[in-house]
Amino acid sequence: MNTGAPTMNTAGLATVRSVPALRKQLRRWRQDGDMLALVPTMGALHDGHLTLVRHARTLAERVCVSLFVNPTQFGPNEDLAVYPRDESGDAAKLAALGADLLFVPAVEEMYPPESLTRVTVPGLGDMLEGEYRPGFFTGVATVVCKLLLQALPDVAVFGEKDYQQLLVVRRMCADLCISTRIEGVSTVREADGLALSSRNAYLSAEERQVAPALYRTLSGVVAGLRDGADPIERAAWGEAELLRAGFDEVDYVAVRDAETFAPWPGPSRPGRVLAAARIGRTRLIDNVAVA
Ligand code: PAF
Repeated sequence: MNTGAPTMNTAGLATVRSVPALRKQLRRWRQDGDMLALVPTMGALHDGHLTLVRHARTLAERVCVSLFVNPTQFGPNEDLAVYPRDESGDAAKLAALGADLLFVPAVEEMYPPESLTRVTVPGLGDMLEGEYRPGFFTGVATVVCKLLLQALPDVAVFGEKDYQQLLVVRRMCADLCISTRIEGVSTVREADGLALSSRNAYLSAEERQVAPALYRTLSGVVAGLRDGADPIERAAWGEAELLRAGFDEVDYVAVRDAETFAPWPGPSRPGRVLAAARIGRTRLIDNVAVA
């Protein structure tokens, strides 16, 4: 195990691969009085991730980015084996943005063979994405909990694109007395509204034409709610609209309280419209605030 100094990758970005090496470097910066921001990622970085890193730089003197394709958040029939990986390309993008440290642990570093513990957020982690991807949020909560305890950052930055994940992480931190502040950053979109996602790379040219209907439809659901439509009827309209636009299957369109995830009670509370739908072999998720 390498517990020593970070190595420089070809992009000139300091990189550590073990938890002791990560802690050693971060301890130095903490002793200098620097605040630390962590941006957890699974790599294959696109402009959505880079926006998180840019935001992190405004929050703290030091920014550490973790790059780990977390096996525990993938179901048996999901895309773990083919999930895009490009460490040197990612490092070059992060170096250009002035990130300070890249943490790239191996699977055995994060999950030594003897490890048993998992972090589960029942209720919030079982609905919507949790229902369609059983075990997903336990995988996410477990790895994020480990990353936060390994790095002890002052702040950690997550995209609102995975809105339910953001709420699960916030709940987990509150419940486990983890003092890191969890910061959410608005979704970055293509010009036609499609939310940036590493999985957009799976779309064929034809599917790519259909995909922006997800954001358009969510915006249409929100417009209806603003005009006083019933949330359940409006969500049903959204599901039909997605199928009409060319999606093959809709897992859900849901209107929820943006903080508790209970069904949205109406304009007295902040709301969020969320959806997951499939085109071909690609499953896309997105969400829009009811504002
Ligand atoms: O959103 C992601 O990329 C992942 O779920 C995260 C937060 C890095 C945990 O593996």
